[in-house]
Amino acid sequence: MSTKKRTTAFGIDIGGSGIKGAPVDLKKGELVADRLRIPTPQPSTPDAVADTVAELIASFDLEADMPIGVTFPAVIQHGVAKTAANVDDAWIGTDADSLFTKRTGHDVFVVNDADAAGIAEVDFGAGKKRDGVVLVTTLGTGVGSALFVDGRLVPNTELGHVFLDSAEAREYADAEKYMAESAREREDLDWETWAARLQEYYSHIEFLFSPDLIIVGGGVSKKHKKYLPLLDLRTEIVAAELRNEAGIIGAASLARRAEKAAAKAAKKHKD
Ligand code: BGC
Repeated sequence: MSTKKRTTAFGIDIGGSGIKGAPVDLKKGELVADRLRIPTPQPSTPDAVADTVAELIASFDLEADMPIGVTFPAVIQHGVAKTAANVDDAWIGTDADSLFTKRTGHDVFVVNDADAAGIAEVDFGAGKKRDGVVLVTTLGTGVGSALFVDGRLVPNTELGHVFLDSAEAREYADAEKYMAESAREREDLDWETWAARLQEYYSHIEFLFSPDLIIVGGGVSKKHKKYLPLLDLRTEIVAAELRNEAGIIGAASLARRAEKAAAKAAKKHKD
């Protein structure tokens, strides 16, 4: 296990339609080279996706011990996928961590996509140097969440799937179906109507977790001026600062965090 000073790690973002990767500068939280995007194979079975991940990595000239972080749209518990959103159901129960590690020959760390975006915000964006309870939410096709306590991630919080109690919200399967960015688009909601749904959601989340800071990510975060000022919460709520590349950056940062943690554990074991 390497304890050397590292300035770069590699991040990969796996989504339902594309698999994107690039080396990341770990000091600045920026890509060091253009990212490469390969369409997600269909069907997106574990084997097919692992081949694509290996192909993507092989296109870069990486040092053998370069740690690699991979985001995945699923609950990832100790490397194992427990759910599968927008990817083949065969993933459920697959040890994604060891599959990618074996297939690529690199130490690979797999993380839920929203947790990765959250790590990017906490390490380099709107949550940088913020202690206490920080909650990052991503508004996209679904709603993802990443919860941090003094910078440490509580993984797999899945707060898009809470239930809201208004008569309108109860007509939907869960909060995500009611207030994701995809709901705004699908129902062609104006900003005020959508913001009222966000108000309901974030008030509930605020009541449950009493966060010190809420960060709103996902593609629609770049239009934050249209809806964040309409919200009335007791918690500070801000837009994410890292936009499209948050997943890649967060994945790389996670890989470095995991490498350091493993080195620390190995040292403790030796002492
Ligand atoms: C999934 C989460 C994921 C989020 C954003 C949700 O539907 O349950 O695991 O983080 O969508 O992709």
